[in-house]
Amino acid sequence: MIDHRRLRVALLGAGSVGSQVAHLLLTHAEELAERSGAELELAGIAVRDVDAPRDVDLPRELLTTDAESLIVGSDIVIELMGGIEPARTHILAALNSGADVVTGNKALLATHGAEIFDAADQVGASVSYEAAVAGAIPIIRPLKDSLAGDRIKRIFGIVNGSTNFILDKMDREGLSADEAQRIATELGYLEADPTLDLEGYDAAQKAAILASLAFHTHVSIDDVHREGIESITADMIEGARRAGFVIKLLAVCERLAAGGAEGADTADADGESISVRVYPALISRDHPLASVHGGNNAVFVEAAAAGDLMFYGAGAGGLQTASAVMGDVVSAARRHIAGGVGVGESPRQNLPTAPIGRIMTRYQVTLEVDDEPGVLARIAGILSEGGVSVATVEQTPSTDAEGRAHIVIGTHRAREQALSDTVARLQASDVVERVVSVLRVEGE
Ligand code: NDP
Ligand code: HSE
Repeated sequence: MIDHRRLRVALLGAGSVGSQVAHLLLTHAEELAERSGAELELAGIAVRDVDAPRDVDLPRELLTTDAESLIVGSDIVIELMGGIEPARTHILAALNSGADVVTGNKALLATHGAEIFDAADQVGASVSYEAAVAGAIPIIRPLKDSLAGDRIKRIFGIVNGSTNFILDKMDREGLSADEAQRIATELGYLEADPTLDLEGYDAAQKAAILASLAFHTHVSIDDVHREGIESITADMIEGARRAGFVIKLLAVCERLAAGGAEGADTADADGESISVRVYPALISRDHPLASVHGGNNAVFVEAAAAGDLMFYGAGAGGLQTASAVMGDVVSAARRHIAGGVGVGESPRQNLPTAPIGRIMTRYQVTLEVDDEPGVLARIAGILSEGGVSVATVEQTPSTDAEGRAHIVIGTHRAREQALSDTVARLQASDVVERVVSVLRVEGE
């Protein structure tokens, strides 16, 4: 083995991902040294409880509860504790001491990303976070480096594995939402606080990170329109299936052209804007995203020059995510050896975020109505007055004693604001008993 320079690595956290990272650092030391040009010395592992059981055996003497001391004098700090504090404080301390930081902490980056990236810029250190979005899938580096010379128009995909697992179980096995969620919980798919997954917070954090990179703009979770899968029922999944769709929780990051421009998706008189949103949407069963099953993730990137790109793989899992972390560690080590400052973010485009009412897409609206003459004509009239153009109409005959039927209306592309105003008028009308569901159609 060549005599490599030695770099001191501090690991914060030895849970699902951290324990696997420690294992790889310890067992692949020689290979990692060859690749990075530096001997990566794992100086210690900060945890809450040094006696807690671990997924892999780790040398007891490396475990410590004193993260602050461990950070001092380290060249690379790997933060895999999760959450906002004390992760934020430790990362800032590491950067201020000149260390490069590797993290998988999407919650932190989606809320305090600007502060952390600014701190890194101040000292010329790097912050790498491949693991923060879509686990093992390389998507951060392609956006930050490989596509840096291109112009990204749209990113959309499945970035939350546990909700995909639940929706997929409902679709493929006909399970209820509760049954599918129970299985996801038993298999350890859901976060400790399941609302992070079910209500779309986890996907929104990832969408904020992807949009920041794609549009060279600081996007925080507060800029993301978020809807979770709580309202999705087995009946909605079945209705989608009959119409040739599958329901997926999607993250959509979109560049919206200035008003009047060719192909403008919204009219923005002042110039370009962006839309970042997470919601359950209908996808054609022929679309590649429809065949993303179980806990997998997939991200589509539409770039002006490169065209359409698709990234697919494991969105979570300790070992899988550790792969993404280790790629960042090797890069950070190479930078240390080569010298020079870390390559920071490029958020200077500063595009405004458009409200959800400005987006345009297709919709599927399901109404419960009295099965009587003139009802369909009244509904068509309300849609027409609202400027919402109908593409398809399907009625399922009434089976209940009250003689009510379901009408499923597929619209052409419409402005969200026009659609929601129209749905409110339908709901208020005397011909509609109930608006059963309103789902957006994506991927067309
Ligand atoms: P875990 O909850 O499994 O592990 C967290 C680790 O951090 C534990 O070892 C814990 O110590 C330690 N820790 C937590 N708080 C403190 C503290 N205050 N002081 C010292 N140590 C602390 O998390 P994961 O490994 O699942 O996730 C780590 C990061 O990676 C998160 O940001 C997560 O969002 C991200 N990520 C995770 C993925 C996954 O599949 N799990 C996928 C993609 C990203 P102790 O063990 O003693 O309790
Ligand atoms: N809760 C996340 C998911 C874990 O289900 O995708 C990976 O970030």
